[in-house]
Amino acid sequence: MEVPTAKSLSEIYPEDAVESQTRRWNSLISKFREDYGKLPDFISRSPGRVNIIGEHIDYCLYEVLPMAITADVLLAVSVHPEESGPSTVRLVNVHPQKFESKNFDIPDTGDVHIDPSTLEWTNYFKSGLSGATELLRSKRKDFKQSVGMDIQADGTVPSGGGLSSSAAFVCASALAAMKANGVDKVDKKELVEVAITSERAVGVNSGGMDQSASVFPVQGSALYVSFVPELSAENIAFPQMKSPLVFVIAQSFVAADKHVTAPVCYNLRVVEVTLAALVLAKILRVKSLPPDAGPLGVSLRGFHDAYFQEIEGIKNNHTVSKAEFQDQLQSLVGKVDQYLPQEEGYTRQQLSEILGMSVEEMEKKYMTKFPIRAERFKLRQRAMHVFSEAIRVLRFNELLHSDPPKTDAENTEFLKACGALMNETQESCRELFENSCPELDELCELARSAGSYGSRLTGAGWGGCSVHLVPEDKVESVRQKWIERYYKQKFPDITEERLKEAIVVSKPGSGSCVFELGGRESI
Ligand code: ATP
Ligand code: GLA
Ligand code: MG
Repeated sequence: MEVPTAKSLSEIYPEDAVESQTRRWNSLISKFREDYGKLPDFISRSPGRVNIIGEHIDYCLYEVLPMAITADVLLAVSVHPEESGPSTVRLVNVHPQKFESKNFDIPDTGDVHIDPSTLEWTNYFKSGLSGATELLRSKRKDFKQSVGMDIQADGTVPSGGGLSSSAAFVCASALAAMKANGVDKVDKKELVEVAITSERAVGVNSGGMDQSASVFPVQGSALYVSFVPELSAENIAFPQMKSPLVFVIAQSFVAADKHVTAPVCYNLRVVEVTLAALVLAKILRVKSLPPDAGPLGVSLRGFHDAYFQEIEGIKNNHTVSKAEFQDQLQSLVGKVDQYLPQEEGYTRQQLSEILGMSVEEMEKKYMTKFPIRAERFKLRQRAMHVFSEAIRVLRFNELLHSDPPKTDAENTEFLKACGALMNETQESCRELFENSCPELDELCELARSAGSYGSRLTGAGWGGCSVHLVPEDKVESVRQKWIERYYKQKFPDITEERLKEAIVVSKPGSGSCVFELGGRESI
């Protein structure tokens, strides 16, 4: 499947957003003209996402279920003619106070340098560009260096708000670089794969959910993303119901700076689940834990498949039914309970003894590329969360594929069943994975007390955003409750504008696209 070239904004946005988006796109084109004195050649676009269910299991290579949202990143691009020597990229943002203009050269080698220790918005462009360069090199033997570009960026995904502005930016950047270098047909899967690996260059050892959710979706669908045996995505239309599924997104406004906290939060969790895979394999005598696409080279999913193939005699665990897979996950929850008993976590020394590997070697292999700080590693709690969350994703997917409810009673039952899974996720994130925070817990409690069927944090957590499954007729009471009991209490001076940003009812949006301007001054 190729990234589409859109001809009109109604192919990209829901009907009620087209008018305001037309104004925004035209304003981007005129700003580009003011800054560069010419028109852009094309606009590349990639959206943010909200994760419905499946938190912190993408990097364990288990399936996840996000959807794209309307908010997105637009990059208006004018391509420089090919030149000898280094080519130049000029980057301007429609919010120059927040994101300062920057130029950089692409050297003759074609490799741009990214310094993950600096929190630079242009790193995200560079990482997309690096990914595209890799991909172009794999396709064209003689390709070395990208052409230069003038770019004006406009993002509406709140930055650092849990809706993955970063992946939207990286995907839009990689897509822009592919297009600028003459690729008209960009394969979605290839784009996602390079965006996943290249985003890690900015310093967070993330999984592949955000980039998948930014590129693959078609409008109106949730996305079931699988990472094994290879990356694939299924668009799942929401069931047609009398009272439709409504997802409400609420910001906690607790800044979750993943870069700053990575050594004790995100990157540490990646290390913990990787160590859990190694330890379980060792204790359960799995001889060959296969190298895989997990960010540190092995994963809980790799352990899972190897265990059932080697020890339980299943020929190919990728072909077992979803029901059998769920049973396997359930039995793994039992194994964690039995074989990883230490509630207080495991020290480096203890892990080194179990793994038969020196502490130095373990640190070098798993804790150096992305440094972490921890005395103890809570393998029990993290593995419990991962296996049980993987079960919840399968159950949610089953519900979406079941016959649509016909009566009011069936409708309510369906929403309750979906919501219960989301509530369980929140509990697991809070208690086992420890990536919630009091503010997110509070938003969830308030929403449930005003009629939400299911409420949970979404994205990485530790602040950021929450998502709520709310019956249509309760959306207003949930909103009011948050405003009175959360936003006005915590931020007494909050403006109407900010409140509008805080609470968004989101329809499932469409994935990345390119829009060619062909010399037009407006669309
Ligand atoms: P999460 O990963 O939790 O879903 P997020 O992706 O929004 O949330 P980060 O991964 O920390 O948060 O990425 C935010 C960074 O992305 C910003 O610091 C900035 O560098 C870059 N970014 C996001 N939006 C824009 C934008 N409109 N213009 C320029 N840079 C942006
Ligand atoms: C961040 C990462 C994703 C995923 C989520 C948690 O958004 O970028 O890869 O791990 O956190 O589910
Ligand atoms: Mg991000």
